[in-house]
Amino acid sequence: MSDKLRVGVLGATGMVGQRFIDLLNNHPWFEVTTVAASPRSAGQTYEKAVEGRWKMENPIPESVKNLVVKNVNEVEEVASEVDFVFSAVDMSKEEIKAIEEAYAKTETPVVSNNSAHRWTEDVPMIVPEINPEHAEVIEAQRKRLGTKRGFIAVKPNCSIQSYAPALTAWRSFEPYEVVVSTYQAISGAGKTFKDWPEMEGNIIPFIGGEEEKSEREPLRIWGKVEDGKIVPSDEIKITAQCIRVPILYGHTATAFVKFKKNPTKEQLIEALKNFSGEPQKLNLPSAPKQFIQYMEEENRPQVQLDVDFENGMGVSIGRLREDSVYDYKFVGLSHNTIRGAAGGGVLCAELLTAKKYITKKEQ
Ligand SMILES: NC(=O)c1ccc[n+]([C@@H]2O[C@H](COP(=O)([O-])OP(=O)(O)OC[C@H]3O[C@@H](n4cnc5c(N)ncnc54)[C@H](OP(=O)(O)O)[C@@H]3O)[C@@H](O)[C@H]2O)c1
Repeated sequence: MSDKLRVGVLGATGMVGQRFIDLLNNHPWFEVTTVAASPRSAGQTYEKAVEGRWKMENPIPESVKNLVVKNVNEVEEVASEVDFVFSAVDMSKEEIKAIEEAYAKTETPVVSNNSAHRWTEDVPMIVPEINPEHAEVIEAQRKRLGTKRGFIAVKPNCSIQSYAPALTAWRSFEPYEVVVSTYQAISGAGKTFKDWPEMEGNIIPFIGGEEEKSEREPLRIWGKVEDGKIVPSDEIKITAQCIRVPILYGHTATAFVKFKKNPTKEQLIEALKNFSGEPQKLNLPSAPKQFIQYMEEENRPQVQLDVDFENGMGVSIGRLREDSVYDYKFVGLSHNTIRGAAGGGVLCAELLTAKKYITKKEQ
């Protein structure tokens, strides 16, 4: 029997679920043993369930093709087959909250891509390079849930990954006011151009709930753990506009920043290039070697050229320059379904495994 941790993917047939399946193929620590989705897909082989809607560039992994899809709602059955699960189901917020908690209570850790638990006080929302120490709240959460192994950890929204890493690298210069606009890919809505032809040559100036997430989630990531809760930071104000653009993969952000200290452009660029964290130190399997790259060319980062930097796990920043109203402005780019969704989730699970929060269940 393999030493790898047995993994279940909830919502395995969707856009993010497929990305999990793709990224976990031949993973050195994790092996997908169970796939689950809605009752519509349950009972079919995975290959049949995603027929005509497989969206990845790589083919469906051989090891997953013939797994029979389970019903996400059959919690005990799914939990009995796995050491932990990734969650990427699309249900109502209340249903997701309840089902993720039900999995945790079966002593199955849940690493979630969903927003439902992002503001539950004792649930860590982790970008492994930025706030790995937030995993500490898991102990308080386990006490509340009455579990020994089970817990929920989440990753933040895809939109923030194009600018929050840069702001984190600059925190010693005390950024305190940020205006950001995001230009978000259609895959962020689980869609391709085939599913959403109206997006060809179009821009839609609204993404439900996205501006609030883009303004608030970075504050929680920069927060502190106090008495078993995460208390968000109040040091930075962010205002955001989020726009859907006709791009398949890759969220771009343009941001204006005011700093309390007066950094030079060179200092800011150095801080970006030198920024790294626990995943690099621990050499986690999915960690990018360079988390943030700075691009000197005036016309970079570009989605077509740069979205796959570090296999989609790195963030590209460019066009940093002084501004006449704010102190500086810049452009950022990240891969929304890799760093922003499934890849961020896999890296989070690797961190939690390295820190022994996720372990093999006794069998
Ligand atoms: N796309 C992104 O870049 C992105 C980024 C961050 C967060 N998210 C979030 O991640 C979640 C999944 O997004 P997605 O884009 O992958 O969505 P999606 O492509 O629509 O996939 C949804 C998945 O959930 C399953 N599902 C739907 N209704 C269900 C039900 N009633 N009971 C059980 N399973 C159900 C679907 O199963 P069937 O195939 O059987 O219907 C499918 O596996 C959403 O909450 C989304 O907001 C997405």
